[in-house]
Amino acid sequence: MDFKQEVVALLKTQIDALTEAEIEESIEVPKYTHMGDFAFPCFKLSKAFRKAPNMIATEIASNISNDAFEGIEAAGPYINFTINKAAYAKDVIEHVLDLNDDFGKQNIGNNDSVIVEFSSVNIAKVMHIGHIRSAMIGNSLARIYKALNYNVTRINHLGDYGTQFGKMILAYKLWGDRAVIEQNPVDELVKLYVKFHDEADKDDSLNDQAREWFLKLEQGDAEATELWQWMKDFSMVEFNRVYELLNCEFDSFAGESFYSDKMPAILTELREKNIVKKDDGAEIVDLEPYGMPPCLITKRDGSSLYVTRDIAAAVYRKKTYDFKKNIYVVGAEQKLHFQQWMQIVKLMGYDWADDCVHVPFGLVSMEDGAMSTRKGRVVKLEEVLLKAKESILEIIEEKNPTLDNKEEVAKQVGVGAIVFQELFHNRIKDYVFSWERMLSSEGETGPYVQYSHARACSLMRNIDVEGIPVDYSLLNDEASMEVVRHLSKFEQVIQDAARKYEPSILTRYICSLAQLFNSFYNANRISDQSPEIQAARMALVKAVKITLKNGLYLVTIDAPERL
Ligand code: ARG
Repeated sequence: MDFKQEVVALLKTQIDALTEAEIEESIEVPKYTHMGDFAFPCFKLSKAFRKAPNMIATEIASNISNDAFEGIEAAGPYINFTINKAAYAKDVIEHVLDLNDDFGKQNIGNNDSVIVEFSSVNIAKVMHIGHIRSAMIGNSLARIYKALNYNVTRINHLGDYGTQFGKMILAYKLWGDRAVIEQNPVDELVKLYVKFHDEADKDDSLNDQAREWFLKLEQGDAEATELWQWMKDFSMVEFNRVYELLNCEFDSFAGESFYSDKMPAILTELREKNIVKKDDGAEIVDLEPYGMPPCLITKRDGSSLYVTRDIAAAVYRKKTYDFKKNIYVVGAEQKLHFQQWMQIVKLMGYDWADDCVHVPFGLVSMEDGAMSTRKGRVVKLEEVLLKAKESILEIIEEKNPTLDNKEEVAKQVGVGAIVFQELFHNRIKDYVFSWERMLSSEGETGPYVQYSHARACSLMRNIDVEGIPVDYSLLNDEASMEVVRHLSKFEQVIQDAARKYEPSILTRYICSLAQLFNSFYNANRISDQSPEIQAARMALVKAVKITLKNGLYLVTIDAPERL
């Protein structure tokens, strides 16, 4: 039942002067629950009724009634509607129970195409704790958009091209040892990369040689290509281990190199449309009219750039996926880069530039200041995830040693704790990674929410209410109603999270649901109650369990049934 529509219909029987849409628009939600669930202000009616708003409110309120509302009362110039709690609880809970795993799914998107680009890590570099941000915000947004019935394509725009590969190839050729590298590929390559920079500081000719190697790679030179492919392959092995731990899925790994053969056409187009101009042997786009610095499109040696590959990628994606929205989950430090190339795409005459969205986020730092990307002093994401898993495993061994598949559960809770912390913060904010806060089973944490879910599962295993009809009027206490009201918001919250590209809205919602559920549980005993009371309370427990599970799924956190 749509209670708001009921209110509109009831009011419409008394009001000729406003259309149904106008009535609906005026309906407010009172600030305090004791004032009812909906309020209709009568100010606009004084002309048509030729009366003071207070009198109109009294008159209309006395003329209407309906089983869906336990109170329809005038309060000054307002008419307050209080929903019949039993009808409301029934309505909300049965909706959840009927939909079950599908609760939350809605057809907002009509299967329109949406691209979510996320993670987009650089090959031959360590995946550090900072990389969790794009990976998890993006993965969650992909799930959220999918739930809203968008046809989602998840793209990992791998950083597998550019002058740094010239450096890496050269460093390998000068100082590398294949056997050593294969033992521990990414770490060894990072070492070589650091060495390259140290040496190049002393001998600038190394930089020229590196540029030559990248140019060779762009021109398809066999040796350069073989070495590059080798680095790419072992990097992917390491990345995939992390993606698996994080439940990150991708439909495409078309990274920067994928666009190398698509760039010449873009450059021709930019020249024909007079968008680029020559500048000391290079080519740039003047963006001064848009308040931005000029953008370099080709270098003096003719090699292409990061930004040019992004333009080529956007054009390719439009052609291939005909997106309604093309989302880039990339750190806030690249804001200007995105503004620049999106402006260039606009200058090329493509309206769909407006459908490209940069979703930025802030930094994550470690409590002890251990994080510094320079000189390889980084905190590896994989190590953090495994350490969290180990910590949880220790707790399980101590508190619940007979639990089945402890390893798997420890992974779900350990990784879930990190992901929860990651997605709890408003994405644009910087946050400090805290082991202690994150792994606690109290407060706003992943383990707390997972524990609440497992508690609901345990109640469902232990209390049998099969076949007992549910009398929803037994859920009329405030703690139960708080849960019901919160459940009713889930679908809207998913839409808000999608519209604002903000998984934290959903994470916070889930966390509040767990808190309200625990208050409900503390206020309402279940185990030693009459079958009728048990049946009503268990209906609520089950609805909470479904919502926690579906909500956790959308923020990419597993929901184990036993902890
Ligand atoms: N690989 C880049 C980096 O690590 C991020 C790529 C972002 N995506 C894009 N389409 N430019 O900085």
